[in-house]
Amino acid sequence: MNAPTKLSHTRQEFFCEGNGYRIVPHPEHHRMYHIELNNQVIDAFFEKTRHINSQNLEYVPYMRFVIAQILESLLDHKFRGLLRGILHDRLTGGYTIGVQGRTMEKDDYVKFGTAVSHLVGTSNFDAMSGTYYARFLVKDTDSSDSYLRQAYRLFTLHTDGTFVDEPTDWLLMMKFEERNAKGGESRLLHLDDWEDLEKFSTHPLASYEFTYKAPPSKNVQQTIKRRTFFQLNNHPCACFIDQFVCPETIEHATWLKDLSDSMENSPETKAMPLPVGQLVMLNNLFWLHGRAPFEKHPELHRELMRQRGTFAAH
Ligand SMILES: [Fe+2]
Repeated sequence: MNAPTKLSHTRQEFFCEGNGYRIVPHPEHHRMYHIELNNQVIDAFFEKTRHINSQNLEYVPYMRFVIAQILESLLDHKFRGLLRGILHDRLTGGYTIGVQGRTMEKDDYVKFGTAVSHLVGTSNFDAMSGTYYARFLVKDTDSSDSYLRQAYRLFTLHTDGTFVDEPTDWLLMMKFEERNAKGGESRLLHLDDWEDLEKFSTHPLASYEFTYKAPPSKNVQQTIKRRTFFQLNNHPCACFIDQFVCPETIEHATWLKDLSDSMENSPETKAMPLPVGQLVMLNNLFWLHGRAPFEKHPELHRELMRQRGTFAAH
């Protein structure tokens, strides 16, 4: 067993093997890791959690941590620290992990995603769904009031939690189902890969408190003031989404549009496929995410789960 608690900064050479898992460089993104679990661990997790279902997790908050503890009990004591270490590490801040085809049950996906997220912290309440996670469909037709479920247009790069009055340290997205779906990959940009980071993060408007308002479907009535860039641990972090930020002048609007265009056009914005049953977890403070458009198909059907939350203090 060879599992350092601090990950190597020469990520390409990093390889970590613990009791029941391996952490390897992600094959599709130079910043990220992929975590492979032993199949026996995954099978044992679902065996030991057979008595728990997603409704139980929704209704009883402590069960979310109970299920995390069950996953941890099947691995070594360093696993939790490694997950947190990756997400906090400015050089990476992201990983993927999945059920590796051992189950196709959506209730199992909720359980697995919840176990992983609650090794890292606590999920925020998601007002769109009324519980701690949200499942949402992308189909051929949609009448929603944001880009979230509109299949055939680019969902521009953004951070999550812009219009809620609580921190959103991390983001988890898990693929539940995909049929007739071409395109639609997650598009990701790590702030330190973006060539215009300094230009925008040091501009006078970078610290201006813009107003954010959510559309009706989000079930969030309040308006929030947010700085677009702020410092954390001496590194610039971002808070931005084009759909909900409300400029007050032409100068504001021009700067916000230039910012969004620069991120979209950055050669470092990379599309990353996510197989069914796999999740990606990202640090929401220095990663931006979006979605490529799908190719038109009358039977397009894709379902994702999202969770957002805060890092554990202990
Ligand atoms: Fe998002």
